[in-house]
Amino acid sequence: MTTQEIPVTAFSDQRPGTAGLRKKVALMQQPHYLANFVQSIFDCAPELRGNTLIIGGDGRYWNRDAITTCVQMAAANGISRVLIGQGGLLSTPAASNLIRQRGAAGGLVLTASHNPAGPDGDFGIKYNIAGGGQAPEALTERIFETSKALTRYRIDPDVQVDLDRVGTSQQGTLAIEVIDSVDDYAAQMATLFDFERIRAWLRQGHRVRFDALHAVTGPYARRILVEQLGAAESDIVNAEPLEDFGGGHPDPNLIYAADLVAAMNGPDAADLGAASDGDGDRNMILGPGVFVSPGDSLAMLADNLHLCPGYADGVVGIARSMPTCRAADHVARRRGIAIHETPTGWKFFCNLLDAGHITVCGEESFGTGSTHVREKDGLWAVLAWANILAASGRSLPEIATAHWQRCGRHYFQRHDYEGLPAETADGIVEDLRARLPTLVGQTLGGLGVTAADDFAYTDPIDGSRATGQGLRVVMGDAARIVLRKSGTGTDGATLRLYLEHWRQDALDLDPAAALAPLAAVADTLIDLRQRTGRAKPDVVT
Ligand code: G1P
Ligand code: ZN
Repeated sequence: MTTQEIPVTAFSDQRPGTAGLRKKVALMQQPHYLANFVQSIFDCAPELRGNTLIIGGDGRYWNRDAITTCVQMAAANGISRVLIGQGGLLSTPAASNLIRQRGAAGGLVLTASHNPAGPDGDFGIKYNIAGGGQAPEALTERIFETSKALTRYRIDPDVQVDLDRVGTSQQGTLAIEVIDSVDDYAAQMATLFDFERIRAWLRQGHRVRFDALHAVTGPYARRILVEQLGAAESDIVNAEPLEDFGGGHPDPNLIYAADLVAAMNGPDAADLGAASDGDGDRNMILGPGVFVSPGDSLAMLADNLHLCPGYADGVVGIARSMPTCRAADHVARRRGIAIHETPTGWKFFCNLLDAGHITVCGEESFGTGSTHVREKDGLWAVLAWANILAASGRSLPEIATAHWQRCGRHYFQRHDYEGLPAETADGIVEDLRARLPTLVGQTLGGLGVTAADDFAYTDPIDGSRATGQGLRVVMGDAARIVLRKSGTGTDGATLRLYLEHWRQDALDLDPAAALAPLAAVADTLIDLRQRTGRAKPDVVT
């Protein structure tokens, strides 16, 4: 074993975004680029020395090479044990769970989530701290500062790891343990949900159709849904993880999971349809002929979660990210529990979860999760829904309709304008920001503006403050228009326009039609199409 100190000219562009560092593969593969970032993490996380580090990724192109580099650097930086998912695979929630269950000091998760993979695609890496959550902003900023000034990194090129064989080896001072990627996660799910009841429900002829989009959740879904719960193998589709995700875009939404949507709208629809993303933290939920928007799914889960054994004591509070529709607020109000509104990004939920202020949380971007880990969790949401359907004896459309009848329906859409020049995107945001003070009191599309601001958040636990988290134009409880710039894109700038319109009178509209008047208001207000030169948004979810 020989530790080498490699001199490096630091990089200036390694500031982590909403969820870690994400770059084009070619950029990541530049000599010393990944090592520069990993060394910066190790320098900023001294607690890793003499301790355990979890390592795994979503299986995308370059995953194995990057993991080997991480392990060689862990050895040279005094880490005493690494736990790696077999084949280099760990879903993001499974990694978070392992950090917690195995008492690790942290974890490296190699993923660019739902972004396409392959030599021309994206690669990413994020650092999760003890407790399983993503590194908080103060730490990612320190890592960024370190990455800009690094002069050397440490690596032991003699360390080798056979990612495919489960087992332990000692190399110098480092113990390397390759573990089954699914075992610990599946064991935890069995403590939260009534597997017996779901099995019985499936035996009665009910069906769950799950699309893994050729990403990391395939092995998890096969083990839990098929082997442990008895779902039909043929209902788990695209379950083989591929380095390029089969050329697809592993984002579980109406656009990229179109096959699933078609199946769920067809004559042979399953009782529950779901998909997850590249690293397994997102979920999309469908019933026969029904799409449950993520904001609605959060609300309906929060309302019914007590039917699952792990949550039998009920939900103590709910959190949603600011742009997420306010359906969950109605559930919270009715149940007399707290609702928290946080900035976009899962890390803002973690303090609330740690402090026991909330039980469930979610984002409009197809993310839902609970106290069980400190990341969002795609399969968790699928199992929660399956448990609720099995235990309630009601169908998904029945649960959705009952919720809308009781709380009204929050029609919601997100319009994304991708790959914009940074100046264009910044200019649009700046313009609207400047006009916000003039909007309050105006009537737009027949709705009075009650508030217009740039969202800022003070964490109730540690008092930390996040500003500039998105512009919102609020029309009371009736509607909201939100505009913010994405923090995860790798190709220019992405603007996201969020539209929410609450209706109590019309519960069965097509969301696009229901939101057309509000979209027209946003058009006059922001004029995204004219200013971006795009006839329509690149993606609508
Ligand atoms: C996007 C989503 C956000 C999510 C993040 C990571 O971030 O909007 O809700 O937490 O991906 O999955 P954005 O690109 O908008 O910054
Ligand atoms: Zn993801």
